[in-house]
Amino acid sequence: IGDKMMAGRFVGSRDPVMEMLSASITYDQRLAEVDIQGSIAYAKALEKTGILPKSEMEKILSGLEKISEEWSKGAFVVKHTDEDIHTANERRLKELIGDIAGKLHTGRSRNDQVVTDLKLFMRNSISVISNHLLQLIKTLVERAAIEIDVILPGYTHLQKAQPIRWSQFLLSHAVALTRDSERLGDMKRRMNVLPLGSGALAGNPLEIDRELLRSELDFASISLNSMDAVSERDFVVEFLSFATLLMIHLSKMAEDLIIYSTSEFGFVTLSDTYCTGSSLMPQKKNPDSLELIRSKAGRVFGRLASILMVLKGLPSTYNKDLQEDKEAVFDVVDTLNAVLQVATGVISTLQINKENMERALSPEILSSDLALYLVHKGVSMPFRQAHIDTGKAVHLAETKGIPINNLSLDDLKSISPLFGSDVSQVFNFFNSVEQYTAMGGTAKSSVGAQIDHLRELLKRL
Ligand code: ARG
Repeated sequence: IGDKMMAGRFVGSRDPVMEMLSASITYDQRLAEVDIQGSIAYAKALEKTGILPKSEMEKILSGLEKISEEWSKGAFVVKHTDEDIHTANERRLKELIGDIAGKLHTGRSRNDQVVTDLKLFMRNSISVISNHLLQLIKTLVERAAIEIDVILPGYTHLQKAQPIRWSQFLLSHAVALTRDSERLGDMKRRMNVLPLGSGALAGNPLEIDRELLRSELDFASISLNSMDAVSERDFVVEFLSFATLLMIHLSKMAEDLIIYSTSEFGFVTLSDTYCTGSSLMPQKKNPDSLELIRSKAGRVFGRLASILMVLKGLPSTYNKDLQEDKEAVFDVVDTLNAVLQVATGVISTLQINKENMERALSPEILSSDLALYLVHKGVSMPFRQAHIDTGKAVHLAETKGIPINNLSLDDLKSISPLFGSDVSQVFNFFNSVEQYTAMGGTAKSSVGAQIDHLRELLKRL
């Protein structure tokens, strides 16, 4: 159709490999429905300008509805001459209603058409993604509420650091995801600007009613400058950036859980539903779901990087380079939809192994509490000195080859006279976590407050 549509200008046929390189129909058919939606709005606006008689508009509309039906039934036959979804739909319209179809594109360009289509497509996709994301956050929060009394070591540098509530861990991931959800909302608001009516680059010469187009297609506002409107793909970059950061958060959570699911840690057991076996080793149960989440983060970032590279150095308005935007968007939409649902499945079905978590709570991770004990004991004890004294106790226990809580009171007193018999109270993991009552901490009251806050937030997101 490319050749036929531009038959006036071109002589002969194009290199078939060039045809293939140029065609986007294999993937942009996913825009079929929104392309028709855009055309319906445009036909109505054309009628209002007076250039398209009402009877012809009606023919166009019924033709477009027929095409929409064909697409939804899977009955639309793509021809090898269809270059992209816009020309395919128009070709079909002509087959159905004849030459009147040729009036639909008056004053319109594929340049304002394609960016409008992509925005409509993304708007729909974002609603679905947003729901999957909220479902995941909710799953984490509700799990945190149920398992609030479970305690395990928290890690920094992947070394045991301080005891925390399991819920504090779950909520740390939920909180990151709420920022992603807010970012998605922000970008959805910012992209909700109608480009249609910008023409190829200069605008629309028919005094087309862009307010009518806006309300038909349910955009919040109308683009201010035609050259910017056909050129900008900020919304694609914002979406892919949102997606990249979301995937980085999911990758972190996946990596934590991969580590926790090893037999060395044994903190969690993943459901068989989200694992696979080995073709050679019968005993293996591999956390493929989590590994795939981790790897898809790389894939999504790759899509963002590729679009940034495509955009860099482009001159103003439409250039064919922009055709690359769609595969990136489609791929990331599909990836997020799959990954978010699998992540929710993994979180809601995994089992925690409380005994293993508690067994991993070694007394050394209470050393910072021991230093704090000295601070509370001595009015003039600076924390730095307490840290040094406690460090000596850690060292002494290590040389003696015993856990720090097995040092005798005499041993401790030899380091600091401030140590008393009540020091034994320090070595209690439940007391330890309960110190962290300040907002954001791992005490039960504070974790409970986080849960309340997130539940409220979820109502608004
Ligand atoms: N298939 C093209 C794309 O995806 C549509 C726009 C083509 N416009 C043009 N002037 N060649 O971007």
